[in-house]
Amino acid sequence: MSVSVSSLWFMVLFSFVLSYGEASHQIYRNLESIPSSSSQDQPYRTGYHFQPPKNWMNGPMIYKGLYHLFYQYNPYGAVWGNIVWAHSTSKDLINWVPHPIAIFPSQPSDINGCWSGSATLIPMGKDIVPHILYTGINKANQQVQNLALPKNLSDPYLIEWVKVPQNPLMAPTSANQINASSFRDPTTAWRVRGEWRVIIGNKKNRRGKAILYRSKDFTTWAEAKHPLHSSPKTGMWECPDFYPVSTSSQVGLDTSFVGKGTKHILKVSLDDKKHDYYYIGNYIPKNDTFIPDGETIESVPGLRYDYGKYYASKTFYDSVKHARILWGWVNESSSTADDIKKGWSGIQAIPRTVWLDKSGKQVIQWPIQEVEELRGENPSITMGPDLESGSRIEITRITSAQADVEAVFGISDFKMAEAFDPSWTDPQLLCSQKGTTVKGGLGPFGLLVLASDKLEEYTAVFFRVFKSQEKYVVLLCSDQSRSSLNGDNDKTTYGAFVDVDPIDHSVVESFGGLGKAVITARVYPTLAIGDKAHLYAFNYGSETVTINRLYAWSMKNAKLH
Ligand SMILES: *[C@@H]1O[C@H](CO)[C@@H](O)[C@H](O)[C@H]1NC(C)=O
Ligand SMILES: *[C@@H]1O[C@H](CO)[C@@H](O)[C@H](O)[C@H]1NC(C)=O
Ligand SMILES: *[C@@H]1O[C@H](CO)[C@@H](O)[C@H](O)[C@H]1NC(C)=O
Ligand SMILES: *[C@@H]1O[C@H](CO)[C@@H](O)[C@H](O)[C@H]1NC(C)=O
Repeated sequence: MSVSVSSLWFMVLFSFVLSYGEASHQIYRNLESIPSSSSQDQPYRTGYHFQPPKNWMNGPMIYKGLYHLFYQYNPYGAVWGNIVWAHSTSKDLINWVPHPIAIFPSQPSDINGCWSGSATLIPMGKDIVPHILYTGINKANQQVQNLALPKNLSDPYLIEWVKVPQNPLMAPTSANQINASSFRDPTTAWRVRGEWRVIIGNKKNRRGKAILYRSKDFTTWAEAKHPLHSSPKTGMWECPDFYPVSTSSQVGLDTSFVGKGTKHILKVSLDDKKHDYYYIGNYIPKNDTFIPDGETIESVPGLRYDYGKYYASKTFYDSVKHARILWGWVNESSSTADDIKKGWSGIQAIPRTVWLDKSGKQVIQWPIQEVEELRGENPSITMGPDLESGSRIEITRITSAQADVEAVFGISDFKMAEAFDPSWTDPQLLCSQKGTTVKGGLGPFGLLVLASDKLEEYTAVFFRVFKSQEKYVVLLCSDQSRSSLNGDNDKTTYGAFVDVDPIDHSVVESFGGLGKAVITARVYPTLAIGDKAHLYAFNYGSETVTINRLYAWSMKNAKLH
């Protein structure tokens, strides 16, 4: 491996046009399959995903035009433990400047760890004061909630933080019967009629809960009679997130915004499943109730931000861009032993703008536009070739190990689409059963990324299209099973159904499919690294598909340290 080995980060922006008779319909989606490198010994280090120099991460806000990212960090090792709040700032969410640790154990109420929390920006006089609520692990190893404030508001980097003497502000007691091992991750607070509200993740037996607290001064908090929401048999709810979305526009809303034409998203990270699930519903401020619309987190497959590896995510309202921005943590898929050898684990996915789909049935996500600034000049452009059954073409002229690809595939004949069996409720299972090797009518077709010379290694990102009565079901798969010759990695195949109806012309104009299904994966090739990594478009289905348009850019490195 040469010193010039570049990062193996890969982003696939998949679009594809389904042409049906006269109509043409576009289904757009984004998916990130990751990996990377930056030095001789670090083939997997990412080139432009935010990553701490070492160890774990997670947390975000914009203050005086500067983005702040706080993340869960272990200063002493590559595995979870000794948790503090590390801190970096950025002008563009891509290039980062590191700062000293912002919050570390120093009080009886957090002496055993400073776990996740959130920032709330509070106007006070002519200032806006960020308030950070976080979970502290106290002397008795109980989870309690603490508050920290910036020491010097004139410092735009907010380097130093002071904890209020009243900490902890919320704690398990014999009166409230809260389980001291299941009480964590306060959200950004929102205000109704002058009173603040915050929710905290909890469980009682197997019932997951978002416990609600209220406060007039942000210091004295009282638990509400009812949780904001709860659900039986879902286990611990970690890192809840609760925010309004517009039903008619992609513009983001301040967390406290309440009004007509909005819905609320309640996201919870299910500790048992290690996935982020969300509800869409109505928030009723009058009695602090959240009423989910149809789909719930118990339904199968359930609504998820990402059908691959993505956890402990949090959004914040970007008051400059007027957008809601989503950050998520992407766990490694390597063994703990390999993580220790690498010296780090966990990265942040590229921040995504998130908004409600016009259907109101799911959210749409798209990487923030700033990512495009990292695209090299002269993309490799492929327009028009047919991919016949069983064929594969190489996409050249780019650094395939660190690239960004947008592809639009066209299908002109749907007759070959196989019938969809209604008993197929688990897209991940379907993807792993069929893989790339089982020939279908329409598909598998898509991309082989991070592929080695002789295809000993590759990650396949592909589609299969099925016919289901009057609809087509599109299955999106990310198959890591051949991604690495190293047998120690988790190579689970991921899958998602993409909710589209090619017969519905509105798909085109609404761009409704854009960012409808997202899959993030971690892969660790041993051969397909640096300039040995290849990129192919393939079609192993029976019916010909067309590459209407494929743009591939080499990606530059972001400044991270
Ligand atoms: C607060 O920060 C400003 C800007 O960095 C600095 O000039 C000032 O000296 C700081 N004040 C204190 C008390 O540290
Ligand atoms: C409290 O939560 C912990 C951690 O999940 C669990 O092991 C314990 O059984 C719970 N205790 C009670 C009384 O439910
Ligand atoms: C809150 O108010 C809504 C609308 O009036 C009602 O449907 C709901 O049942 C109430 N929830 C509680 C817990 O009282
Ligand atoms: C992280 O990934 C490892 C390996 O795939 C898995 O065993 C573990 O459960 C994951 N942890 C989380 C929090 O997702």
